[in-house]
Amino acid sequence: MNATLDAPTLAQQPVSVTRKMAASLPGLRAVAEAKGLRIHHLGAGYPNPEVTDPRGFIAHEQAFFEHLRRQEGVNDPHALPEFLRESYAYTDTLGPLSVRESFAAVYGGDWGVAVDPARLLPTVGATGGISLLCSLFERPGAPVAYITDAPTYAGFLARASLCRHARIFSVDMDDEGPYPDELRRAIRRARAAGFFVPFYYTVPDGHNPAGFSFSMARRQAILDIAREEGVLIVEDAPYVYISYADAALRPQPFLAMDPARTVHLFTGSKIGLPGPRVGFAYTEASVAIEGGNAASLTDLLLTEASADILFQNPRALRGFESLLFDESFKRRDSLWPVAEKKLEVYRENREILLATLDAKLGMHAARFHWTTPEAGFFSVFTFLDGDIETNDDFVARMVAEYGVVVIPMYDFYPADARERDPKAGRDQLRLSFCFTEHTGRARATELAVAVDAFADAALAMSARA
Ligand SMILES: Cc1ncc(COP(=O)(O)O)c(C=O)c1O
Repeated sequence: MNATLDAPTLAQQPVSVTRKMAASLPGLRAVAEAKGLRIHHLGAGYPNPEVTDPRGFIAHEQAFFEHLRRQEGVNDPHALPEFLRESYAYTDTLGPLSVRESFAAVYGGDWGVAVDPARLLPTVGATGGISLLCSLFERPGAPVAYITDAPTYAGFLARASLCRHARIFSVDMDDEGPYPDELRRAIRRARAAGFFVPFYYTVPDGHNPAGFSFSMARRQAILDIAREEGVLIVEDAPYVYISYADAALRPQPFLAMDPARTVHLFTGSKIGLPGPRVGFAYTEASVAIEGGNAASLTDLLLTEASADILFQNPRALRGFESLLFDESFKRRDSLWPVAEKKLEVYRENREILLATLDAKLGMHAARFHWTTPEAGFFSVFTFLDGDIETNDDFVARMVAEYGVVVIPMYDFYPADARERDPKAGRDQLRLSFCFTEHTGRARATELAVAVDAFADAALAMSARA
């Protein structure tokens, strides 16, 4: 190839297993369909089409905008309402104030936190929040270490591995969260190797991909270590409202436990719709910076955002604000009634997954294990037999021979976790129960058939191994 540009400092990033799967799916689907097999989706982590039909949202948003227009007292039908002007103009980096005020009141109320609207930094979803944080701490050019779970969110791995002077130090987990001693050791190991350690990144509720939520005791242990060691906790929180726990038993997010130690990443992608990509990063942390000065982390992030990835969209933020108001345009007391509409679907899907696995595989407790998610979209399925290797070939055969699409877990383990244990995740699959092609009763049937087909495939493939 005749290169237009010589750029020997650039490297091609590895392709994630989810993207590889998406790329190979059409070919595998053709093989499966040629055998008369139906395709069963247990791979995609997308919100269900039943809860992401935008038409209801758009109608409510339009009515809300009309309400804002009336509220402004704009009687001349040709006059430009202020909210509309602002929605399409350059705005402050913090975005429209009313959205932050409404969100601070509703979200703060739900989680028992006095959220300060002046510290709510709009981001392009949680993905934008992750990127912003990494950019801030990578900017000085010094070696930086991110502490995270093994396994961890693929989007975080992808963003962290973009930076040549950033390294991940991962922490193994049991069924309550990361091992506290290992968390402390990882921080200390990173420091001893000359890295600056700004934060521990995690997804404590409905962990993607680990398929469980951290216990309260473990959250407290993590927080104690973060305080003692002087690191922040970055809490990625897309599934806090996609919760299956009784209201009284819902664990507290780190945001509520210590907002000065936490950077909380909220996203509207699951409680609302992912397309508009609305999110907020919230923290009350202060940082000792060069010259012995102190700065608020929000201010540092704000400067980073305004110079680097200022993509917040005032129109999308005003649209998101409509979710915070009910049909009579009274500000909601809580987002839980909004969540409930989604939970009706996800709760039923989760029940179908767990009940079907239990009915088909429950008698083989020595061969198979799966997590019971208290929140989120995923359960991790483990083959206990020892001879199964859930590699790319295994998942390709699951599609081609059984029509079942699942995601192997190994790629979610950071490189250092795979060095510690070359078999990490190699006996596991991530099962998603969020996505189906159909809605209503057909959705439930489709998912039940999918889990049934998966269980048959798991039995057959492990018997063969
Ligand atoms: C843990 C985690 N973080 C972030 C995201 C992406 O969030 P957003 O749509 O806000 O970019 C997801 C979505 O799948 C996720 O599971």
